[in-house]
Amino acid sequence: MPTTAVQLESIPFDHERVVMVTGSRSRLPIIVAVHSTVLGQALGGARLWAYPHWTDALADALRLSEGMTLKNAAAGLNRGGGKSVICLPMRAALTDEQKRDAMLDLGDVVESLGGAYMTAEDVGSSAELMAIVSERTKHVCGLPAEQGGVGEPADATSEGVHSSILATLDALFGSKDVSGRRIVISGLGQVGGRLARRLAAEGAALTVTDVNLGKKELADSLGATWVDAADALTVEADLFVPCGLGGVLTSQAIADLRVKGVVGAANNQLASHDGAAELAARGILWAPDFVVNGGGVIYLDMAMRPGADAAAIAARVTEIGDVVATIFRDSAAKGITTLAAAEQLAAARLDAA
Ligand SMILES: NC(=O)c1ccc[n+]([C@@H]2O[C@H](COP(=O)([O-])OP(=O)(O)OC[C@H]3O[C@@H](n4cnc5c(N)ncnc54)[C@H](O)[C@@H]3O)[C@@H](O)[C@H]2O)c1
Repeated sequence: MPTTAVQLESIPFDHERVVMVTGSRSRLPIIVAVHSTVLGQALGGARLWAYPHWTDALADALRLSEGMTLKNAAAGLNRGGGKSVICLPMRAALTDEQKRDAMLDLGDVVESLGGAYMTAEDVGSSAELMAIVSERTKHVCGLPAEQGGVGEPADATSEGVHSSILATLDALFGSKDVSGRRIVISGLGQVGGRLARRLAAEGAALTVTDVNLGKKELADSLGATWVDAADALTVEADLFVPCGLGGVLTSQAIADLRVKGVVGAANNQLASHDGAAELAARGILWAPDFVVNGGGVIYLDMAMRPGADAAAIAARVTEIGDVVATIFRDSAAKGITTLAAAEQLAAARLDAA
């Protein structure tokens, strides 16, 4: 989900290249931000989302592409960071034909970058839409399996988040046992829905929410307690698992939290960088999002290689939990936030390159 109200002027600009065009077919603003290719071709998804103004879409692209540099570096991939955003007007629903035009336009922009950036599915897009992008460029991954692609990465993402949840429980309680743990999941989409099913099967006491009230059916089927989305942040529990909106951890939200740890799939959970210190000051253990949700890029990067081995990919995704545990240890040993420890891990790889 897009980050909430990130101001363009608050974003440091050290991106290698940003291309913004009006799509010749769709007439929509299309932004591709390549933050870094130091470790290799930039990889990051294409977001199709409505923003109040194109500057909000640009801010999202700048921040998300920088996040992809950190994510890909921390995941140990030889990949740089980039992101595409297609900016829709508020309250607009595109027809299939308009979506097709937008994807062809995106493909042209990606192709114009000569291989500096590879796109993939993200919020608002899909494997099927990536197949349309592939009509204009080969620098796209995550096409449907029936079209020779590797499909959507949500399974791997939720595996990586699950393994991070276990690492966080271990750090907090000295045990990875999920049963009886009180866990709040906000956002029951592709990743949150998978996690909810898995954690319920493992015996967690789940409280769940989604702004889409249709998801209540899933909650009922799992025997989970349903709360309004606005109330989820104040439920007393062991863990809060954000799997919906970015920017959810504002200073106010952090002050209101009644959990011991936060670990989830949502990108850019912290509304501001200071949030990491605010969480630490409240004694809340935060597992940095760009490490936790790296399973998707690990899957895409490894699965598209010739001779890809499913077991090797699964093992690599599960190792995310070990990386999270290392970050917790580093943070405690050095007296720095978990965010700073994760950034140091990514920076070490970038510096070595
Ligand atoms: N899908 C992946 O492989 C992947 C990889 C890395 C990161 N992520 C991030 O994880 C998050 C979830 O991804 P997804 O693929 O499951 O997305 P999704 O669109 O399938 O699901 C998101 C869900 O969150 C709900 N939601 C939106 N705003 C909410 C709010 N304020 N409170 C509660 N629920 C809200 C939506 O209704 C939806 O059901 C996103 O932030 C995404 O960027 C996903």
